[in-house]
Amino acid sequence: MILVTGGAGFIGSNFVLDWLAQHDEPVINLDKLTYAGNLSNLESIQQDGRHTFVHGDIGDRSLVSSLLEKHKIRAIVHFAAESHVDRSILGPGEFITTNVNGTFSLLEAARAYWSALPDKEKADFRFLHVSTDEVYGSLGPNDAPFSETTPYAPNSPYSASKAAADHLVRAYHHTYGLPTLTTNCSNNYGPYHFPEKLIPLMIANALGGKPLPIYGDGQNVRDWLYVGDHCAAIRRVLESGTTGETYNIGGWNEKTNLEVVHTLCDILDQLAPKTGSYRDQITYVKDRPGHDRRYAIDARKVERELGWKPAETFDTGIRKTVQWYLDHQEWVRGVLSGDYLKWVEKNYGQREQGVAA
Ligand code: NAD
Ligand code: TYD
Repeated sequence: MILVTGGAGFIGSNFVLDWLAQHDEPVINLDKLTYAGNLSNLESIQQDGRHTFVHGDIGDRSLVSSLLEKHKIRAIVHFAAESHVDRSILGPGEFITTNVNGTFSLLEAARAYWSALPDKEKADFRFLHVSTDEVYGSLGPNDAPFSETTPYAPNSPYSASKAAADHLVRAYHHTYGLPTLTTNCSNNYGPYHFPEKLIPLMIANALGGKPLPIYGDGQNVRDWLYVGDHCAAIRRVLESGTTGETYNIGGWNEKTNLEVVHTLCDILDQLAPKTGSYRDQITYVKDRPGHDRRYAIDARKVERELGWKPAETFDTGIRKTVQWYLDHQEWVRGVLSGDYLKWVEKNYGQREQGVAA
């Protein structure tokens, strides 16, 4: 059995759905259900006996230890985090609590459990930490893309908290021999992406007739990867990655924010035509403080050593994504109205927190 943390969030829920579509191995899904966690992402596997949802915090050491013991976990795939840069600027505290202290607590629980395993299980155990390319800082226009040996230079409270977690994971391998793997991925997009992030926000605002707010001059560059490709890369690293190593995961899709928004508007003009173009809704707003100019990933190591490369191009992935949002406007409405949070209250209000199903 594997333990997934943060499996009700954007990437985690895609990972759990893809995992169960491809494996029979059950999943324990530990998620605190912050504003970013949404159990309706997992509606299609509600009746699936291979999926057990546990409402709890990665920082709850006794809960995590009991889950590891009870379910004889053979691998942890750690997604749980505060993940939005803008929120980290307005309130960095939660980022330290979850991304740094939470990861530390999870590592401690994993180390205690792993140390007591018999030799074979001990050798096979894995702790896969899902991280970001933002730990490497910002590139100039002609700099080479980030490789696994690029020095860390995080610029936002979010990326600094992820960098701290990456260092702890590295240290637990180096010092204690914990069999860790770290993936540093570029910006993801796809189904179940919370509409505070660029792509889902722009689609939701476009369809809602609202302004499409571009920070600064719109020339910041991100390297976009379809979420299903990221999940496939994580499965590959979990299966065959060398412990103690880090793997950069990216889509070879560098785009300026303005290019991304233009593409979204053009696809919406075709799939959901209105009078005039969605491009008319574009507005420029004050830039994000400390806004990193360019991210780009050199994903050659994971391709060379583990044979992974993305299946989607930006054109195919973004078209699928826009279509998904058009087909799931109820999901977007639920998120924007906060209705999904009421479900949590209803379902968990009466229960003891952190009790595994
Ligand atoms: P998300 O914000 O959509 O989801 C995070 C999930 O973690 C939510 O379900 C939330 O409820 C849960 N969570 C938060 N704090 C928790 C805690 N203390 N205990 C248990 N659960 C908790 O994030 P995402 O975009 O799916 O990102 C997942 C991971 O991937 C993060 O670690 C992020 O740093 C990393 N990452 C994201 C991207 C991206 O483009 N979104 C790119 C590279 C790496
Ligand atoms: P975001 O999705 O927040 O991801 P990250 O900051 O982790 O890369 O933002 C992607 C890019 O889009 C980033 O350069 C900031 C920019 N952006 C806007 O221009 N407008 C917006 O409303 C948002 C949310 C982001």
